[in-house]
Amino acid sequence: MYIKTVWAAYFSATQTTKKTVEAIAGEAAQSCGAAMKCWDWTLPQARTEGKAFSEEDVVIFGTPVYAGRVPNVLLGDFERISGGGAMAVAVCSYGNRHYDDALIELRDLLERRGFRVIAAAAFIGEHSFSQTLAAGRPDKEDLRIAKQFGARAAALAASLAQRQDGIESLPKLCVPGTEAPYRGYYRPQDRSGNFIDIRRVKPLTSEACNACGLCAKLCPMGSIALQDVRQFTGICIKCGACIKRCPQKARYYDDSGYLYHKEELEEGLKRRAEPELFFSSACGIEGE
Ligand SMILES: Cc1cc2nc3c(=O)[nH]c(=O)nc-3n(C[C@H](O)[C@H](O)[C@H](O)COP(=O)(O)O)c2cc1C
Repeated sequence: MYIKTVWAAYFSATQTTKKTVEAIAGEAAQSCGAAMKCWDWTLPQARTEGKAFSEEDVVIFGTPVYAGRVPNVLLGDFERISGGGAMAVAVCSYGNRHYDDALIELRDLLERRGFRVIAAAAFIGEHSFSQTLAAGRPDKEDLRIAKQFGARAAALAASLAQRQDGIESLPKLCVPGTEAPYRGYYRPQDRSGNFIDIRRVKPLTSEACNACGLCAKLCPMGSIALQDVRQFTGICIKCGACIKRCPQKARYYDDSGYLYHKEELEEGLKRRAEPELFFSSACGIEGE
């Protein structure tokens, strides 16, 4: 088998997953002398179209962690992706709290779609809700680790591609988390232990808005009306795209539950979480 293309495939509303996945894929492609291509899976059109990969591809597949899991709004979209026997590297990026069962769930989703997951990693990205929690991550050090990880994943893919017995005999990659059925989605609580439900919360628009329409074009749910960006036509997943990427900084939340949760995360999670890397090996499992 011969590796023709290394793909950077990602859902990435505020582009932290994109940065990490592109760094991994760029280095992996260079290491194994393959072409690198990107598949940005964030907007509704790409997710509706789906994609079919083949055995000549190695796919670095990234999603952010939402509530300790793969974003549930993406689960249906996985059905339109076909692995076709491609080797895959599962990557989740999380906002310095934890990735809980997201990586194990992503591994399983990819395997179910016909990929062979040979390595996995949890990286850290600036939290979607915040400008201070994991601010600026992935940073220089994260990207150095991402590139190193890409080179090691490429070496592993190249050696597996040479194997006579094929990759079918590979044991399932072991990653942290609870095997299916996974734990429930992470639910934030207020000071009295009551659950905070932010599902219906939507961002507001200030007078600074000049109706450029960028937020409507960036919304992964396609939920902002282009003609009147103050109008929501669908759900808001709090991904942060319209808030963080607005050139006028005209979007904000005023919901007290959302703001309490954001501040609690910012105050409670000042320690620096570090990337975790996992590799499948012919004789078992290796993690670091
Ligand atoms: C709805 C929602 C839930 C999130 N839940 C978690 C979580 O459980 N743990 C965590 O550490 N980060 C969580 N985050 C933060 C994102 O995982 C993190 O910021 C990620 O890097 C964003 O990726 P992106 O820039 O590619 O969109 C959450 C973000 C959103 C929008």
